[in-house]
Amino acid sequence: MSKYLQHCIAPDCGAEFDLDARLYVCSRCGGLLDIERREAIDATSLRDVWRTRRGSGVWRFREFLPFSDDTPIVSLGEGNTPLYDARRSADYCRLPQLKLKHQGCNPTGSFKDTGMTVAVTQARKLGARLVVCASTGNTAASLAAYAARADLTCAIVVPGGQVSHAKLAQALDYGAKVFEVEGNFDTCMDQIRELAEDESVYLVNSINPFRIEGQKTVAFELMEQLEWRVPDHLVVPGGNLGNSSAFGKGFRELLESGLIDRQPKITVVQAEGAAPFAKFYSEDEHESFVNDEHPETLASAIKIGAPVSWQKAWRAVRETGGSVITVTEQEIADAKAVIGRDGIGCEPASATTVAGIRKLGINENESVVAVLTGHLLKDTDYVMNYHSHNLIAPDGTALASTFGNAPIRIQSVKSVADILR
Ligand code: F0G
Repeated sequence: MSKYLQHCIAPDCGAEFDLDARLYVCSRCGGLLDIERREAIDATSLRDVWRTRRGSGVWRFREFLPFSDDTPIVSLGEGNTPLYDARRSADYCRLPQLKLKHQGCNPTGSFKDTGMTVAVTQARKLGARLVVCASTGNTAASLAAYAARADLTCAIVVPGGQVSHAKLAQALDYGAKVFEVEGNFDTCMDQIRELAEDESVYLVNSINPFRIEGQKTVAFELMEQLEWRVPDHLVVPGGNLGNSSAFGKGFRELLESGLIDRQPKITVVQAEGAAPFAKFYSEDEHESFVNDEHPETLASAIKIGAPVSWQKAWRAVRETGGSVITVTEQEIADAKAVIGRDGIGCEPASATTVAGIRKLGINENESVVAVLTGHLLKDTDYVMNYHSHNLIAPDGTALASTFGNAPIRIQSVKSVADILR
């Protein structure tokens, strides 16, 4: 018998399923599924084991992953991403120190890889032939790469004309079949869930609990980098809300196994024009979650109005005493440029974190880690438009290029010294 099972998180259901039941939601009530261990882990010596173990930054923590040691793993050497001290970003947030965990430094340039290695390993274990996802671009790029490594056919559904060229180029180059749909990410998600009802198809969006298992290990890696000193705040962007759910699960498991003695407050930051979770959070009773039918933001990765994992993300925010806030298009654009000036860079969705921290007004005695989810080169059109004073918000307003750095045309290099003087 496997040490793990799938468990419905709906409080009035709690149904349990075998680990290898090919499910994405509870077949009894439609609730989200968690992967749960049936027995406690003896974590006494794990810190030492992990410190010396090399290889994938996800599978290094395999004691917390639902696979036997002899399972063939599909990996691109994901994880092991840097944790940077970011001086300019800290100043911008009026903090003495700010750490940025750069998940854009994964093999395909986004945090999705830490989940995809696990989901595609499970796909192969289940004998799936076709792996699929809906995506704003990064999940697509990541799945395409891992499917190629696993020799699986891969189909991706994206909102036509709304995915950055860099992300689309990755998916095409890795050999995925890319289908463009009229509509937004939420339309794609609806359609792909219909397709995944077919037995031979395996869906690897973050509704798939195996994705969350991989992504939760980032909490482990982060704690190791911080020498197991828990930060006061962890700040993440929110779109489909898989990432915040995964951090919630990771920190909860670390706490339960005694590897940490408290959790960081998890704060989720959404773009103001695509913020159904922030709206839910701001309501007194938190009773009904209302999707946003028309999400709008230039941070295309998080242009999502019907986040599938909101119940899990809500659990993470509630259990850790965190919050959910929004930032404007202008705040995202400027924060992104500041992160760039730290020599780090990220994609627009990731910059919601630094914009959010500035807005939160965190006490300077408190420690903060922001998670950067995607690489700077994921969306260079946005970067060029910002630095060329040409960035237009979805509502048509021109955004200020507060930290703009446009290229300068010169006749000869002789003028360079004059310009720089
Ligand atoms: N940041 C980036 C760079 C993303 O690509 C995404 C999601 C998020 C943040 C939000 O994370 O969905 O877990 O809350 N991108 C998905 C995709 C939707 O299809 O690539 P989340």
